[in-house]
Amino acid sequence: MAETTITVCDTCRRVAGGTPETQAPWPGERMAAALAAEALPEGVRLRRVSCFSACSRGCVVALSGGTDHWTYVLGNLDPAEDAAKVVAAAVAYGDSADGVVAWTEAPALLRTRTITRVPPQD
Ligand code: FES
Repeated sequence: MAETTITVCDTCRRVAGGTPETQAPWPGERMAAALAAEALPEGVRLRRVSCFSACSRGCVVALSGGTDHWTYVLGNLDPAEDAAKVVAAAVAYGDSADGVVAWTEAPALLRTRTITRVPPQD
C-alpha cells in the first residue's frame, strides 16, 4: 500500500453540505476529531488544514499519496457518520497503482462524494 495522507479541513461549518452552523465546535473540527479517533492503518496519516476553498461542500477531506498519485477531494461529509468510510476510502486509494480506484472496486464514499480528482504533477 502506498503512503496515503488524509487531509481534513478543520474549519468547515457544514455537515453534509447543509446549512452553515453558527457555533463551535465546527463540523470540520468534529470531522478532524472523528478521524483522529479512528485506528489508521499503517501507511495512512492524518493532517489538518484550514479551508480547501470548497466551503459550500463541507465537510471536506482530501486523499493524496505522493507525486505519482492522483489526489481526490471529497465533500458533503458528515463527521458523525463518515470517518470510518473516509479511512476505508484511503485504504482503497493507497492500494491502487496511481490513486485512481476502479469504479467497480471503489467504496461508495469515493463514488458519491468526490468533488474532483487532480492528476499527479508529473
Ligand atoms: S472551511 Fe472547509 S473547505 Fe472552506
